[in-house]
Amino acid sequence: MKAYTKHIYGGPEVLSLEEVEKPTLNEGLLLIKIKANSVNPADWHILRGRPLFARLSFGLFKPKDKKLGADFAGIVEEVGQGVSKFKVGDQVYGETLKGGAFAEYTCAAESVCGLMPEGATYSEMACVPIAGLTALQALLTHGKLKKGESVLINGSSGGVGHFSVQIAKAYGAHVTAVCSSRNIEFVKSIGADKVIAYDQENIHDYNGEFDLVLDTNGNLNFADFKRLGKRGVVVGFTTMGHMMSVLIKKVFSKYPLSQFTAEANNEDLTILANLIKEGKVKPHIETTYSYSKIPEAIEYIESMRTRGKVAISWE
Ligand SMILES: NC(=O)c1ccc[n+]([C@@H]2O[C@H](COP(=O)([O-])OP(=O)(O)OC[C@H]3O[C@@H](n4cnc5c(N)ncnc54)[C@H](OP(=O)(O)O)[C@@H]3O)[C@@H](O)[C@H]2O)c1
Repeated sequence: MKAYTKHIYGGPEVLSLEEVEKPTLNEGLLLIKIKANSVNPADWHILRGRPLFARLSFGLFKPKDKKLGADFAGIVEEVGQGVSKFKVGDQVYGETLKGGAFAEYTCAAESVCGLMPEGATYSEMACVPIAGLTALQALLTHGKLKKGESVLINGSSGGVGHFSVQIAKAYGAHVTAVCSSRNIEFVKSIGADKVIAYDQENIHDYNGEFDLVLDTNGNLNFADFKRLGKRGVVVGFTTMGHMMSVLIKKVFSKYPLSQFTAEANNEDLTILANLIKEGKVKPHIETTYSYSKIPEAIEYIESMRTRGKVAISWE
């Protein structure tokens, strides 16, 4: 089968499309024929081995895992022993924890897969796992958002941001979205009640009392969180130094600020699929690349200016 591989750390140019063995199906795993992927900042972090301390788990001098790619949607081709939630022929979506989704086939644990909702396309559902789960878990699991509360979403037009706006609205929140002025109409169209364009108004001078502040961009400092919201969730980061400064200040304060890494699970994937089925959330695809252009797709999203998501098609 065809799969993207990497043997050294580097930019998208170190990826090559090679013929490799189909993955082995072990207990609890699904063998999935990939129909679509999406690309995420996590892909280029892993590809480049950045931030450097992450090489402690990715591999110190060269990548331990030769394959890349997390988000996928496709068809179950075989099920391993002990699999109880899925059967051959099911249309599924999810994220592989160890990489390997940028390939014709991948193996994934049934615990990180969900059934696709009727009517959604493979490309749409491949855009959901990492960004959708992060948005859902940031707002509900860590942000404890309740109906009628107000939320400020800093970085509202990208993958995580555009799902956050729609999920917050679906759960009955009042949403103030921060994005660049070129995305004002886009974030309004997906439900934002109010928009702050960060290139017209300085968010670091903005005053407001929100119940929850979600920072997907990662440029808010600790004082911004305290000034803007009753509680906060850090999702993204701009530099490691900035993130460490926010987290160190949190240790010495009672201000409720969470930082987390999203994890796939059946329950949250089902919630997302239902929100999509009910029309409350719609993945926005800015561009779809063919699988043969995955390095170009990764290069494109590295500028961190994507509107919604970038999808990859294997069809
Ligand atoms: N904690 C976790 O588990 C987790 C999971 C997934 C992702 N992440 C992190 O979350 C971040 C966002 O990921 P993503 O997939 O949503 O990335 P993305 O699709 O590239 O979106 C980035 C967004 O940032 C916005 N942006 C750029 N500069 C900004 C600024 N100064 N103020 C506010 N917004 C700004 C851009 O909007 P404009 O074009 O309008 O400027 C763009 O929409 C990344 O750092 C990623 O590593 C964390």
